[in-house]
Amino acid sequence: MAERARVAILISGRGSNMAALIYAAKAEDCAFEVVLVTGDRPDAPGLTLAEAEGVRVARLGYAHKAELFEQLDEALREARADYVALAGFMRIIPADFIGRWAGRIVNVHPSLLPKYKGLDTHALAVAAGDRQAGCSVHVVTAEVDDGPVLGQTEVAILPGDSPETLAERVLIAEHQLYPRVLAEYVGREQSLEWITARVGELAQDLPETHARTSHGSPGWRVGSQAAGKFFAIMFNRHHGEDSIGLLVKCTGQDEMAQLIDADPDIYFRPAYYGPSDWVGIRLDRHGVDWDHVAQRLATSWRIVAPPRLTKLLRAADDF
Ligand code: GAR
Repeated sequence: MAERARVAILISGRGSNMAALIYAAKAEDCAFEVVLVTGDRPDAPGLTLAEAEGVRVARLGYAHKAELFEQLDEALREARADYVALAGFMRIIPADFIGRWAGRIVNVHPSLLPKYKGLDTHALAVAAGDRQAGCSVHVVTAEVDDGPVLGQTEVAILPGDSPETLAERVLIAEHQLYPRVLAEYVGREQSLEWITARVGELAQDLPETHARTSHGSPGWRVGSQAAGKFFAIMFNRHHGEDSIGLLVKCTGQDEMAQLIDADPDIYFRPAYYGPSDWVGIRLDRHGVDWDHVAQRLATSWRIVAPPRLTKLLRAADDF
């Protein structure tokens, strides 16, 4: 089974959305596990619930806002979180913190974004005479309540609804929406389509490359369309290998042995390639080091590229 994403949850209060995420993660096939609950208030009631459920909790003691976000960052790294889920976390997050976790922070908001960002969403919807309210799950960017929307649920406003009665029903919708959308979002990085697109971008950044399938698998070649050579080929759970990833050339059997020895969870010798210099890199994991993958692609490219393309590189090496 695919590896579960490690999610940390930040709360400020009651934590009912946090509870919905924790309960969803109890299903064995859920795409995420909850590895930490923390936030800006050490007395938040949700923390007690998380503890009772056996989830690790960090109660932070800080003097000012900058210190809070330093401590949060440290707690998230210590828990080896892949993603951060905001669940009623009522602080504006500084841009540098968002930058460090770019694309990895999601939030649930009680309105149909882009309508009613910020506070008092239910009162605004009722006062405006809207017929539909709802909730949204979105990626967090530096602009408050503004990142790409991943999913929404509409909730009808009833005649006579007060902001409070409406909030109660929207909350039920939040509890349904958040775990489902979060699971989809964190699971996408393990799909063949997503990984292939990412590898393709890196492969095609290298000089004179083109995409070509090899025995049905997406691959990339260097050189002319007629005489190019493969330097990267995707694999998808074949020949006894229960993962999705990439085959690249390495410099020889010694390097292959070194790579596998240093990181047997990531590298493997593809059985069906015999004693060749193709090495397998598993990519359906969280926290893949894509800079490293780019380097391996460049090495592989260089091994098979025609001399006219590598001549300059060799000259630079000799320099
Ligand atoms: C939820 O309704 C959530 O959407 C909202 O706070 C409530 C927290 O409840 N969040 C925001 O308004 C963020 N801008 P909970 O603590 O029971 O999950």
